[in-house]
Amino acid sequence: MTLTAEVLDTRSLPAEQGVAQVLQRLGRLKPGQALDIVTCHEPTPLLQAVLAEFPLAFDFSPLRPAPGQWRYHVYRRDSRPQRSVTDYLAWDHDRLDALLDASMTAAQRAQWPVARALADDFGHGLLRHIQIEEEILFPAYEQATGMHQGGPTLVMRHEHVDIKQYLSGIMDGARQGDYDAMERNRADLLGVLVPHNMKEESILYPATDRFHHDAALESLVLRLMLG
Ligand SMILES: [Fe+2]
Ligand SMILES: [Fe+2]
Repeated sequence: MTLTAEVLDTRSLPAEQGVAQVLQRLGRLKPGQALDIVTCHEPTPLLQAVLAEFPLAFDFSPLRPAPGQWRYHVYRRDSRPQRSVTDYLAWDHDRLDALLDASMTAAQRAQWPVARALADDFGHGLLRHIQIEEEILFPAYEQATGMHQGGPTLVMRHEHVDIKQYLSGIMDGARQGDYDAMERNRADLLGVLVPHNMKEESILYPATDRFHHDAALESLVLRLMLG
């Protein structure tokens, strides 16, 4: 996956004009292209406008926020009849993998401001991904299957604890300009994260998709996207 995206900064515009400009720019994107949006307004109305105007055309996820501003990566997907949990969260896995790779490459070249900014986007994105899984996805799976105790979501929640620990090591390494520490923690992280993501993409996400149909599935995916 490429992370290459133009940046549209709407902070100088009133909220409604900012939304109009974002919709106009998104309308020109081709499948595979992306736009990074910066706004100083709470982004939910903007994201809802994107979903209303282009219901199935875009995936989006937050980048690291700053005081008084929000940033979103918006990716033009191939139009499909319906968006699934598997589509959206597997796309987010790929996006996060690409952010980590880009951060490590910049760190290896001692391009520390770039490496830190990418590590921040990766860290923010991975914590948010874990949060929407634990607060939205896993409860939906547990309710649909009746598997509350000892099921796969318990294993996933335990693995999230290890993932957060290694993520924190990568972030510390980036802050301290210590490539070796980043690399050590990256190796440990991938030792957990690669099989974790594989289990989610091959078992948990497809099972959740199978247990939800039509409006219920659409509503669940939208909650994940806006979460
Ligand atoms: Fe997970
Ligand atoms: Fe995941």
